[in-house]
Amino acid sequence: MSRKRTAILISGRGSNMVALMEASAIDTFPAEIVLVLSNVPDAPGLAKAAAAGIQTKAIDHKAFEDRPQFEAAVQAELDAADVELVCLAGFMRLLTDEFVTAWHNRMINIHPSLLPSYKGLDTHRRVIRDGGRITGCTVHYVRSQMDQGPIIAQAAVPVHADDTDERLAARVLEAEHALYPMALELVANGTVRVAGEKVRFEGKDLDQPALLSPAKTG
Ligand code: GAR
Repeated sequence: MSRKRTAILISGRGSNMVALMEASAIDTFPAEIVLVLSNVPDAPGLAKAAAAGIQTKAIDHKAFEDRPQFEAAVQAELDAADVELVCLAGFMRLLTDEFVTAWHNRMINIHPSLLPSYKGLDTHRRVIRDGGRITGCTVHYVRSQMDQGPIIAQAAVPVHADDTDERLAARVLEAEHALYPMALELVANGTVRVAGEKVRFEGKDLDQPALLSPAKTG
């Protein structure tokens, strides 16, 4: 089995990146992390990836005049590493239509809500404000609109009456760390296919986007 050469794009602490790296450290996992790239030169995730022996690259978006020039530099690194799949993991830059199109059905993202609800930032604060009882996280293919695209997998997470943003974020993050490797596995091993902008599962007894049970409460 040839493992899909995968890059992870981060902007911060990289806890989802670590979950993906740990899953791919097992050599039967169908994706191999060959590059971790950040637009923030001092992103803590870069040091974690380097410590795990993974090639890292910082490309500071502030050093470029515009988004296309920044993305050309990112693309050059992806090309140099022969990357086949891209995972966004807390990558906080909007991408141009051109870049998204170049990676159509080959770039996935994790978002801390049950999409299509609560796109954007501050998802947990807004869920609590709205009195939601269940939230979660979503892995989806990237399209040009932010936090939109065919849904690959979701995990549901309960909201507790006394939750703070931080407590809820921590509970959702735990679910993210289980969900993202599972979703990458389904994409990298060819189980997932996009038809009519919806995800279908091939060769498995799954005809629904994968749903993980609620994470441990606590
Ligand atoms: C994660 O919660 C991820 O879902 C979120 O940023 C965090 C990154 O944490 N992504 C988004 O909000 C994208 N719209 P991490 O750096 O520890 O993985």
